Amino acid sequence: GRVRNYTFNVVTKNTTRLCSSKPIVTVNGMFPGPTLYAREDDTVLVKVTNRVKYNVTIHWHGVRQLRTGWADGPAYITQCPIQPGQSYVYNFTITGQRGTLLWHAHILWLRVTLHGAIVILPKRGVPYPFPKPHKEVVVVLGEWWKSDTEAVINQAIKSGLAPNVSDAHTINGHPGPISSCPSQGGFTLPVESGKTYMLRIINAALNEELFFKIAGHQLTIVEVDATYVKPFKTNTIVIAPGQTTNALVSADQSSGKYLVAASPFMDSPIAVDNMTATATLHYSGTLAATSTTLTKTPPQNATAVANNFINSLRSLNSKTYPAKVPLTVDHNLIFTVGLGINPCPSCKAGNGSRVVASMNNVTFVMPTTALLQAHFFNISGVFTSDFPGNPPNIFNYTGSPPSNLRTMSGTKVYKLRYNSTVQLVLQDTGIIAPENHPIHLHGFNFFAVGKGLGNYNPKVDQKNFNLIDPVERNTIGVPSGGWVALRFRADNPGVWFMHCHLEIHTTWGLKMAFLVDNGKGPNESLPPPPSDLPKC
Ligand code: C2O
Repeated sequence: GRVRNYTFNVVTKNTTRLCSSKPIVTVNGMFPGPTLYAREDDTVLVKVTNRVKYNVTIHWHGVRQLRTGWADGPAYITQCPIQPGQSYVYNFTITGQRGTLLWHAHILWLRVTLHGAIVILPKRGVPYPFPKPHKEVVVVLGEWWKSDTEAVINQAIKSGLAPNVSDAHTINGHPGPISSCPSQGGFTLPVESGKTYMLRIINAALNEELFFKIAGHQLTIVEVDATYVKPFKTNTIVIAPGQTTNALVSADQSSGKYLVAASPFMDSPIAVDNMTATATLHYSGTLAATSTTLTKTPPQNATAVANNFINSLRSLNSKTYPAKVPLTVDHNLIFTVGLGINPCPSCKAGNGSRVVASMNNVTFVMPTTALLQAHFFNISGVFTSDFPGNPPNIFNYTGSPPSNLRTMSGTKVYKLRYNSTVQLVLQDTGIIAPENHPIHLHGFNFFAVGKGLGNYNPKVDQKNFNLIDPVERNTIGVPSGGWVALRFRADNPGVWFMHCHLEIHTTWGLKMAFLVDNGKGPNESLPPPPSDLPKC
C-alpha cells in the first residue's frame, strides 16, 4: 500500500444553520469534516493540530488498528488529549477492511461537529462484489444544536438529569429544505436517469438512532461497518450512531425531485423528538421549480420496521470474503447494559440523585492517565482488572426493576488472553426504562451471532446462534428489553474501549475497556508509543 498524508487543523468556525450563526469546532473549517480516503493496505498519517480552547483527540471509528493501539484515539483510554497549541500524528495501516467508516473527536461532546467519513477502497484492481456504481456519495447524518453542546452536557451533569435534545437533525451538515429555516436549503444529490449510485451513509449523531429513506426509490444494502453483506432491498434503513451503511440506489425514474429523509428511531417509552432532516435527490434536467415527491419516515417507535432491516443483515460469506466466526469460546461473558440512579447531594434538580449508566453494574470512571500508557509503563493505581465477567446482581432484567438501583463506580478493565475467542452477551436492563443501546467495541469487529427479547437463557438461546453468516460489525444495537450475542477473536493487543454510542449514556458511565496482552512476542504485545504521544 501507499502512504496517505492528511492535515487536520482543529479550528473554530462561525457557521450558520437554522438561520442563526454560532462558532463551532471543526476540522479545517468544514462541517461535516473532510473525508479521509485510503485503500486497503495503505498507511494513513494524519497530523492533528489543536487550535481551539478544548483538549482534543480523534478516533478512527471502526479501523481495526492492528498493533497500532496508540493511534486509536479515545481520550484517557489510549492517549492523553492533544492540548491547545499541540499536535499529534495518528499513524495506522488499514488491514483487511474495505468500505465506509467514520472519524470523530473522542473527548467531551466535541464529536457533535468534529466528525467526517473514512472511505476505504479495495486494493487496486480488486472489484467490489457487486456491480460498480456510476458514482459514490458520502451521506453523513448528524445533529445541529443552537446552544453550545459543552454547556448542555455540563448543565446535565450538574443537575443529574437528562440533557436537552438537539434542534435539528442534519444530512451532510444541513437540516434541509423542510426545516424551521427552509431558505437555507439543504444537501442535493444530483443523479442521471438510468445510473446507479452508492451512498456511503454514516450516523454521526450524538444521541439518536435514525431511520433513513428516499421517496420513490429502493435501497440495496451491500455493506455495513466496512464489511460486505449479502445484498438485499429495503425502503428504509435504520442506523445507530457510529454505524455505517453502503446502499446502492438505481435512478430508475425518468426525472423529478425526491425527498431524502432521516428521523429518530427509539424503542422506548422515553420520547426523543420527531425532527426530520431532509435533502433532495434531483434528476438532471429537472427544473428547480418542480415540486418534490415527498415521503415519510416511520414513527419513532416503529420497532418492526427497524427489526425487519436489522434481521436482514448477513455477512456476504463468499469464497473471497469468508465470515470467520469463532466456533469455540474461551471467554464466556455476559454484560448487562442499562441505567441506574446514584446519590448526588449537589444535584438539586435531581432531588439529590443523578442518572447514571453502567455495564455489569459498574459505572466507569474516567482516569486521568491513559489506560494504555498506565498498562504499558506499569503505572499502578490507574485502573483495576476486576471488571466482572458476569452480572454481579441477578434479577429479572426485563421485568420490574430491583429496589436498589445503585451502581458501583470504578475504572475497571477485563483482561482477555491474546488470540483467545470471546462470546459476549449484552443484556439490556429495564432500569428506569428499556432502551436500545448501540454498543461500540474498539479494536475489533465482532459477529452478531444471536439476539432475542427478554432475558438471555444460555441453555436455550445458544442452540439458535448463527455461526455461518452472521453480520460482522463494530457497533450493534442491543434490543430494548432484550439481548444480543457477539463473538470475536482477541487478536489485537492493546486497551480497547467498549461503550454505548449514545453520547449521553457514555457520559453517564456506560463504558468499560478490555485489556489484551500476553506480554510477550512481537505479535502478542504492543510496540512502544510514538515520541509525539501527548502527555497528561
Ligand atoms: Cu465512535 Cu469510542 O467511538
